[in-house]
Amino acid sequence: MKDHSVKLSLLNTLSDGVFHSGESLGQQLGITRAAISKHIQGIQEWGVDIFRVQGKGYQLAQPFIMLSHDLIQSQVSNPVELHPIIDSTNQFLLDRTETLASGTVCVAEYQSQGRGRRGRQWVSPFGTNLYFSIFWRLEAGMAAAMGLSLVVGVAIAEAIESLGIEGVKLKWPNDLYHNDKKLAGILVEMSGQAGGAANLVIGMGMNLAMQDKKGTIDQPWTSLAEVIGNDQLDRNQLVVSFIKTLDKALKNYEVHGMQDFVTRWNRLDNFLDRPIRLIMGNNEVTGIERGIDSHGGVLLETNEGLKSFIGGEISLRRND
Ligand code: ATP
Ligand code: BTN
Repeated sequence: MKDHSVKLSLLNTLSDGVFHSGESLGQQLGITRAAISKHIQGIQEWGVDIFRVQGKGYQLAQPFIMLSHDLIQSQVSNPVELHPIIDSTNQFLLDRTETLASGTVCVAEYQSQGRGRRGRQWVSPFGTNLYFSIFWRLEAGMAAAMGLSLVVGVAIAEAIESLGIEGVKLKWPNDLYHNDKKLAGILVEMSGQAGGAANLVIGMGMNLAMQDKKGTIDQPWTSLAEVIGNDQLDRNQLVVSFIKTLDKALKNYEVHGMQDFVTRWNRLDNFLDRPIRLIMGNNEVTGIERGIDSHGGVLLETNEGLKSFIGGEISLRRND
């Protein structure tokens, strides 16, 4: 694995938001100014905006507090791995399901290959968002996994609500929305079965203070900072709160399944009673969305009556 320690120490120093000269940074790390300039370029490639002003040095455009392993680990009982730079937190856990304890969490500051469903890219710049995954050995096996991905979405949306933030909604099967824009995505993946149990990895990416200046994201999106009108978010505390939420929701799901869950989902459904399209490969069905059924399928009122649709290949889109 590549050693990113110089870039990470530079970020640590710059995270105070003030100017640091190339010379002082070089002295601190025992490297030349030219080497500093190269590392700064590398950091910019991780999606961090850094100003360079002649005679003053370097400054972060948006100062941030780095995630702290000790701070997070001291507040949760799940084993936590913090890898500032990673390909994908989901992939990290999927590669290690044989050796890790169920409940292990992987958190990152930057993902070089963050992904959504069907191999689509999840834009994951350094330090401004949240990217984390939890490994869960589900004794009930693979068939129970679809319901679980819905349960996780509801649990996170309710956790945000309990922080006093209103208006966060869900898009079937597992995106978080606000004002018709995507705030977060959840990706549930499996690494085969161990006996009857399923090895699941549940990953979430949530935008906190991201600014997608290059316009890479090809659909309307938002961030928690935009939702609350302020970018002073405590990322460490949010990670702690979401780990606790997921752990509780997963344990509860193991015992109660989707019992009482339909009402909780429907209250938060962003497209309830709205016209939508369901895309399934080359096929498309249109109708009015009527929430979900007790198996976790999305209900669509079509010309032929009410129909339920379920499966990982289905994409829901607004149709108004
Ligand atoms: P589906 O309904 O099929 O799941 P989706 O648009 O939610 O469709 P996903 O594969 O779930 O697609 O998520 C990946 C998509 O999310 C990308 O194609 C991009 O449009 C969008 N995206 C990527 N990064 C971000 C981000 N940081 N914030 C918001 N949206 C993003
Ligand atoms: C989606 O909207 O399709 C889901 C996006 C999921 C992104 C998260 S970020 C943490 C975890 N690691 C990944 O590579 N993907 C998920």
